Amino acid sequence: MDCITQASFMRGFMDLCDLSFNKGWNERNGGNVSYRIKPEEIREVTAFLNEEAPSQTIGITAENLAGEYFLVTGSTKFFMNVKSNPFDNTCIIKIDEKGENYKIVWGLQKGGRPTSELPTHLLNHSVKKHCTNGAHRVIMHAHPANIIALTFILPLDGKVFTQEIWQMMTECPIVFPAGIGVVEWMVPGGPEVAKATAELIQKQDVVIWAHHGIFCSGEDFDLTFGLMDTVEKAAEILVKVISCGGKRQSIGAKEILSLAEPYSVPIDAEMFS
Ligand code: 13P
Ligand code: ZN
Repeated sequence: MDCITQASFMRGFMDLCDLSFNKGWNERNGGNVSYRIKPEEIREVTAFLNEEAPSQTIGITAENLAGEYFLVTGSTKFFMNVKSNPFDNTCIIKIDEKGENYKIVWGLQKGGRPTSELPTHLLNHSVKKHCTNGAHRVIMHAHPANIIALTFILPLDGKVFTQEIWQMMTECPIVFPAGIGVVEWMVPGGPEVAKATAELIQKQDVVIWAHHGIFCSGEDFDLTFGLMDTVEKAAEILVKVISCGGKRQSIGAKEILSLAEPYSVPIDAEMFS
């Protein structure tokens, strides 16, 4: 391999950032993405890594991430530049043996640090690695306009958001059968918001940050992007419905729950309790 960007995980990550930017979800440096790199993928790129880099504290402890490598977007870096210049706008970090510190082993060639939301990304990865038996590898944060708009209109309650958004498209309860979690407005970037998000992401793959944006977790780049796209599209429909004077008819709880059996998805009935 002549260049690290030939690695398929690098290409997938760059494409994801580009798609997200083109959706209008990442104004300026808004949003961030992290990917837990597979051992066989990191072996392919070892020649490009500097394992002697200095260590820095994460701000949270994630013991089950010890020794893992992540590809992440850089703080203050613009999504629109990731695809054309991943060297200056992304980095690969390695977590130490305690799960408390990281070092930048590749990237951010003009300087900088990983996303300011690193505590939330890594705590979410830690929880998802545990509860999906390692299947989930992607955490994506963005600022989609319709989801943010709804946090000014609906009560900041996960059950209300789930019920309202599930009703907007029949596919929604099939795509995210555990529903949506909502975190009230908090100062971003720190360990408190990381813990509040991680608590919800144990059960759900979608967590909305009130008046800020959304986090999605998934197995790969396509599934994570597709999840965010589905939630944002349903949110757009809801904004339109509300703007047109509100619902005159809709899909009921019983109908939504009746999708579980034919589609073999565990739709969480608790969301209607
Ligand atoms: P970063 O530029 O540090 O990734 O922050 C962007 C953001 O969306 C913060 O929530
Ligand atoms: Zn943000």
